Amino acid sequence: MFIGIDSSTTATKALLMAADGRIVGAASSSYDYETPQPLWSEQQPELWWTAAVHSIRQVLAETGTAPTEIKGIGLTGQMHGLVLVDKTGEILRPAILWNDQRTAAECDEMRAKIGKKRLIAITGNDALTGFTAPKILWVKNNEPDVYAQIAHILLPKDYVRLKLTGEYATDKAGGAGTQLFDVGQRDWSAEIVTALGIDADWLPPTFEGTAVTGTLTPDAAAATGLVPGIPVVGGGGDQAANAVGVGAVVEGIVALSLGTSGVVFATSDTAVIEPEGRLHAFCHAVPNKWHLMGVMLSAAGSLRWFRDTLAPGVDFADLVNAAAPVNAGSDGLFFLPYLTGERTPHPDPLARGAFVGLTVRHSRDHMTRAVLEGVAFGLRDSFELMKDAGVAEIRQVRIAGGGARSPLWRQILADTLQTELATVNTSEGAAYGAALLAAVGTRAFGSVAEACNTAVTITGSTSPGEHSAVYQKQYQRYRELYPALKPIFHG
Ligand code: XUL
Repeated sequence: MFIGIDSSTTATKALLMAADGRIVGAASSSYDYETPQPLWSEQQPELWWTAAVHSIRQVLAETGTAPTEIKGIGLTGQMHGLVLVDKTGEILRPAILWNDQRTAAECDEMRAKIGKKRLIAITGNDALTGFTAPKILWVKNNEPDVYAQIAHILLPKDYVRLKLTGEYATDKAGGAGTQLFDVGQRDWSAEIVTALGIDADWLPPTFEGTAVTGTLTPDAAAATGLVPGIPVVGGGGDQAANAVGVGAVVEGIVALSLGTSGVVFATSDTAVIEPEGRLHAFCHAVPNKWHLMGVMLSAAGSLRWFRDTLAPGVDFADLVNAAAPVNAGSDGLFFLPYLTGERTPHPDPLARGAFVGLTVRHSRDHMTRAVLEGVAFGLRDSFELMKDAGVAEIRQVRIAGGGARSPLWRQILADTLQTELATVNTSEGAAYGAALLAAVGTRAFGSVAEACNTAVTITGSTSPGEHSAVYQKQYQRYRELYPALKPIFHG
């Protein structure tokens, strides 16, 4: 059996998977993150470890699994977080998380030092406030005493790895998300690291997602109730591990995750980079594969906001079902889903949400449908950018996440994206992908593709339907809204 551990922003989950890919059980332990100042988002690394210990113990107990049955552990978690450790192994300050927005000035500093074009060519991405590199510069610029004591830089899941194995290490997918990587070469970029004045000795060695990075120490075994010596594989950032979990590990199969955020994830055999950096280009958790990714910050999060604000207490299914009879295109009403700024296709923290085209004829149900459609249009933007960047032809989109449960939303998406949407049996997310990587790394499967072929099956499919033509027209009009409203958002 294998354990996948996902240290997310709100909880750490431990998932137990049998050698044939069957899910045996899962346990999760929650925590919060702090916003000590506007735009800041921080978390104490100890929380991830305490929660991991708790979840591992709980899943073993609840499933009656003997510790000796565990043959491997895979790690995943929130990407881009900055964990600073001194030379004695002590945490220097709270981790600065992926959703922290304090580093606008440092992003400008990166572009000035490296040049935007060169930055995108090497790292696959334009500077982004959420990534790790500008956070390191922020600490240098604002907390010189802390900066002077840095001996190791880690990502959130790699702090859990340190506690499990005693090793400083990271995986290629997570490493790429720091923006200190040469994405094509799948390792730290000496050019970027030097240009930013970062000490290369702070950066841990990097491993493919299936490579063993260390084994469980006696201390970690005592804490978790496991046995010493269990191999821990590289794993991957949450998006890459989630893609493994739904079998998006070969060209042509795209993962669409409809959670709070909406993520479009396409695997590639080479490092495909969108020349303007509007899509993220990272290494995949699958050895020697890469991926392009579009991230919408408020996808199902938009629907949650709408429900909580305008239909408090109403069940999601009831809210959405009531929007089914509304005409496709919501009788001219549009919704812009930029409630928390946006990443793709408009990397703009000042972008804002909007309903456009309201008339007295519009009801709450129209507004609900407009939210579902607006999110679909925003996701279509990522698909368009992928086509332009030259990703392989998309054969199938595998959809997962809370929003994927709605048949109406799936239909609107299939109509808007003009592609078949498949649902899969494995909707346990990143922790499941991490467990699969552990199984491959310890030779239970010959390759990640083989593991996914065994474990992941298609459970349903939605094809573009009668409203496709309406949505093609509406999408073109939707595209005009952000450029028209941008001066107002920025004013
Ligand atoms: C990916 C990203 C999020 C975080 C938090 O680029 O920022 O997926 O990893 O989950």
